[in-house]
Amino acid sequence: MALPSPEREQWSSRLGFVLAAAGSAIGLGNIWRFPFKAGDNGGGAFVLIYLTCLVLLCVPYLFAELALGRNGKRNPVGAIRAIDARSPWPLVGGLCVVAGLAILSYYAVVAGWAVGYVLRDLVAAGAPDAVFARVIADPLWVVPLFGGFLFATAGVVAGGVRRGIERWAKILMPVLFVLLCLIIFRSVTLPGAGAGLDFYLTPDFSKVSGLVVVEALGQAFFSLSLGMGTMITYGSYLPDDENLIVSGGYVAAFDTLIALMAGLMIFPAVFAMGQNPAEGPSLVFVVLPDVFGAMPLGSFVGTLFFLLLAIAAFTSGISLLEVFVSYLVDETPWSRRAAAWGAGGIAFALGLPSALSQGAVPALSDLSWLVGDRFFGPSPGVLDVMDFLWGSVALVLSAALLSLFVGWVWGADEALTELRSGTGHTVGRVAGPVWCAAIKYAFPITILAVLVIDLLYDVL
Ligand code: TRP
Repeated sequence: MALPSPEREQWSSRLGFVLAAAGSAIGLGNIWRFPFKAGDNGGGAFVLIYLTCLVLLCVPYLFAELALGRNGKRNPVGAIRAIDARSPWPLVGGLCVVAGLAILSYYAVVAGWAVGYVLRDLVAAGAPDAVFARVIADPLWVVPLFGGFLFATAGVVAGGVRRGIERWAKILMPVLFVLLCLIIFRSVTLPGAGAGLDFYLTPDFSKVSGLVVVEALGQAFFSLSLGMGTMITYGSYLPDDENLIVSGGYVAAFDTLIALMAGLMIFPAVFAMGQNPAEGPSLVFVVLPDVFGAMPLGSFVGTLFFLLLAIAAFTSGISLLEVFVSYLVDETPWSRRAAAWGAGGIAFALGLPSALSQGAVPALSDLSWLVGDRFFGPSPGVLDVMDFLWGSVALVLSAALLSLFVGWVWGADEALTELRSGTGHTVGRVAGPVWCAAIKYAFPITILAVLVIDLLYDVL
């Protein structure tokens, strides 16, 4: 077990960690991605499969990332090096660190759209279509919104673990919860909301195929911020006497609760206003503004909604930047401040093509001349390609490698010892071996199978 360097910060309390990690997990994935995936894939049936994947695979893997981070008291590269410095394994940590920044670069673009919708009365008056076109296609709007979001993110990360990340999570997560409750109340009290509740809560297994399972697993995974070292990094700021199972369990429970609540907010309103729930990624940015436009108090509720989305994205963006920053702080002479602003600047440069790919620069909105139209669907833009490469492929690949590392190189038994430290007797004689088997076999095999199926499906 590595000792923390004397100046290395830690969370101030369990609550601080749980809110910061839940803030990372709860993001666009819960409020934008989960509802449209559920809408596309059979509503309640998708939700049941999602919960199964979460409990059987993703939560055990979450514990592995937390244990790895706390054991090494370092960023993903350092945490792996603390166990095995002479093999190529630290490169997997490197993949995590790079993937974090790459995901942030386009995640911040979408987050910037949400901010634009909050300000939509300034952006463009009138029809939702006009707002959408302005916010995502006009470089004079999209670049400042995206840059401003990254600027604020870097500002919080520069403030440090306690005074930056934890403090903001403690302020913003309760606000998010209250906003969500308010909007759910408005949504379920609309006349005709019952049809939406039926769709969402009654499983329709006729829509379930193998691919739905793959989607559900991928979603559970993205939603818990797994696979690119966020949880390794956040775990590295935990003290040795913290119970990883209990605090990790809270994080997973909050993340799931918020995703389920997001469905409760969106589907009743979509059905009450006679809209289609299976609209794909535009559900939140195109369908919902229409829904808000048509309902009583809609404009106010709409502003609250996009504020909610922006806050959720903000605490996740912070965690994406923190992975790279913790690497620079641990492994180079850079100060935290310099690292946060430098990394934010790189994310901005990396993200510009994505930001300009939604109509501002036509050459960037269709890369099919470069990447073909097999992997990414017809006319993929830079943002779609980035999301596929980093948000799907790199994420899943590094997760499979990390669980192989924990299970076989570090050793599942060693990892279990780390997991047990601070728990008293929570990991019993049965649960321990089951967890080891999940990390050594079940998780890497399933997740690699998912990657292969996904790629094959896209090629064929
Ligand atoms: N979990 C976040 C969401 O649901 C996004 C996110 C933050 C993420 N950090 C991550 C996803 C790390 C994958 C890996 O929106």
